[in-house]
Amino acid sequence: MNAQAPLTTFTTTADGRRIGDVLMEMKNITLRFGGVRAVTDISFDIREGEIRSIIGPNGAGKSSMLNVISGFYVPQEGEVWFRGARRPTMKPYKVARQGIARTFQNIALFDGMSVLDNIMTGRLTLMKSSILQQALWWGAAEREETAHREKVEKIIDFLEIQAIRKTSVGRLPYGLKKRVELARALAAEPKLLLLDEPMAGMNVEEKEDMCRFILDVNDEFGTTIVLIEHDMGVVMDLSDRVVVMDYGKKIGDGTPDEVRNSQAVIDAYLGVPHE
Ligand SMILES: Nc1ncnc2c1ncn2[C@@H]1O[C@H](COP(=O)(O)OP(=O)(O)OP(=O)(O)O)[C@@H](O)[C@H]1O
Ligand SMILES: [Mg+2]
Repeated sequence: MNAQAPLTTFTTTADGRRIGDVLMEMKNITLRFGGVRAVTDISFDIREGEIRSIIGPNGAGKSSMLNVISGFYVPQEGEVWFRGARRPTMKPYKVARQGIARTFQNIALFDGMSVLDNIMTGRLTLMKSSILQQALWWGAAEREETAHREKVEKIIDFLEIQAIRKTSVGRLPYGLKKRVELARALAAEPKLLLLDEPMAGMNVEEKEDMCRFILDVNDEFGTTIVLIEHDMGVVMDLSDRVVVMDYGKKIGDGTPDEVRNSQAVIDAYLGVPHE
């Protein structure tokens, strides 16, 4: 990663969490699709090591916001700052190379490929040797391939999916597909991991597993996480801080306790009309 990046100062919170300096900052982001304002003048920061959630009713603009962070959408207004510098408009694969990986609200895996091969695709941004070198199986490419396989096997162990490593993804139940998607994102060894509803459609047991994995990733790899999730129990349990969106606007930002007690947030969730 960026060798010139300044060393982060970490502070330990009252509940023992180690949170660092600001890693990313969104400044006055506005994103429109034709006449639809998906995101309106939103600002917030993400600190290194934290689990930062984005919540809000359907259509609030959460996924759009995540797509701005991942570089998939370019906002009409506002700035994205990463590691203390303004990020110029760049293609999503370049953003990925800066250490930002994601999962999708709708699973985006290759159904016909095995779990192992799907996870390997997560390492593409890290691969140095060219397709030609790989095709000819030259020494460097071979060594690289072996190193990538070793990393992927570690992730498979970490997420406890050894039993399905050769299974084609199309044959897996939904909950396991979501876990494979997380594995693929982790294969990129991200500094910042973006998770768009990683627990949607899961049963209670699957959700508990996913919560544990998210916490373990954050804890063991120090990965900063941005999480979109509708299950309030999960959000309140996992998050250090929460951004609340409604109709494309930010209506709350703070610790789980702060947003839980905010009148604007309560109104949005109860469907109280507002201007
Ligand atoms: N590619 C697009 N083209 C046009 N409109 C879009 C596009 N993506 C999102 N929108 C619109 O932007 C608004 C915000 O959508 P977004 O998907 O970001 O919401 P969300 O908070 O993720 O909702 P959900 O909880 O249902 O996933 C919606 O009105 C949606 O219809
Ligand atoms: Mg969404």
